Amino acid sequence: MDIKITRAKQLKNKPDESNLGFGHYFTDHMFVMDYTVEQGWHNAQIVPYGPIPMDPASMVLHYAQETFEGLKAYRNHDQILIFRPEMNAKRMIASNERLCMAEVSEELFVEAVEAIVDYEKDWVPSAEGTSLYIRPFCFATEAGVGVHPARAYKFIIILSPVGAYYPEGVNPVKIFVEDEYVRAVVGGTGFAKCGGNYAASIAAQVKAEKMGYTQVLWLDGVHRKYVEEVGTMNAMFVIDDEIVTAPLEGSVLPGVTRDSCIQILKDWGYTISERHLDIDDLMEYAKNGRLKEAFGTGTAAVISPIGELSYKGNVQIINDFKTGELTCKLYDELTGIQWGTKADPYGWVK
Ligand code: COI
Repeated sequence: MDIKITRAKQLKNKPDESNLGFGHYFTDHMFVMDYTVEQGWHNAQIVPYGPIPMDPASMVLHYAQETFEGLKAYRNHDQILIFRPEMNAKRMIASNERLCMAEVSEELFVEAVEAIVDYEKDWVPSAEGTSLYIRPFCFATEAGVGVHPARAYKFIIILSPVGAYYPEGVNPVKIFVEDEYVRAVVGGTGFAKCGGNYAASIAAQVKAEKMGYTQVLWLDGVHRKYVEEVGTMNAMFVIDDEIVTAPLEGSVLPGVTRDSCIQILKDWGYTISERHLDIDDLMEYAKNGRLKEAFGTGTAAVISPIGELSYKGNVQIINDFKTGELTCKLYDELTGIQWGTKADPYGWVK
């Protein structure tokens, strides 16, 4: 792919790496590419980071044809490592297909990610626990009022040097089990990474935060009893000697971190079951001590332990509100592979 480069006239000062937070700073440049039905993907560019002129009738603003991805690049001295970009590319293909949007091929996606990360490599932070968050996204730009698949799109990649997603870091968070709102149903868009899913989730998050909880645990939208995701992350529960996570049946996002954790845990000899887990059973296991550990998995926070579950007034503390042994071990293994400080038997870092 030919990428036209326009260098920013003035480069920004880099932020303090010890206080990055998540998603507050953006690099000097971004990758932009256009699609039309007539021309396909064309006009690949690296341009200064900045506003995107848009027609007010751009269809994304009205009918939400928008998908996005999240992945990270890590610094190991002079080497920049990108974690499993082809998995994000494949998921964006599935998301775009669900929303009837133009396909961004795996080759194009990975090449564009590698190009912009390489161009902005000075922005990949080196302090412990930091990385460069990569946010590719795609949206409908055709101007028109009327619901149909748009005939024009943009594919953009922006980059943000980040620290921990939750201020708690790898410390346990309090989770409210949401029984009013639902995140997704089978047949809907739960498996797709589209902005609409996140817009619809905010009300529950706000409600949980008002009650002093960090996030919600989502139940399935039909029976309102099977555990699905925790906030924007997949959820895993260590019950006796079994690790349970929700199956990928259409309502759950196929997380790259979820997939990576499943592979590592299997290789460590654990029994990991992708199966339905009834919330009443889960609360009972938490009460009688059979629930040893619980954690969320996602690119942004990596692994986030769950220290407390509140469901219909029943509050249960997990593992004395401490980060569990397996949770720590998994976090160390995965981040070790990502930062290039541990062997990568899977060939995940590129
Ligand atoms: C993730 O956990 O990686 C996410 O999807 C969070 C993102 C929406 C900021």
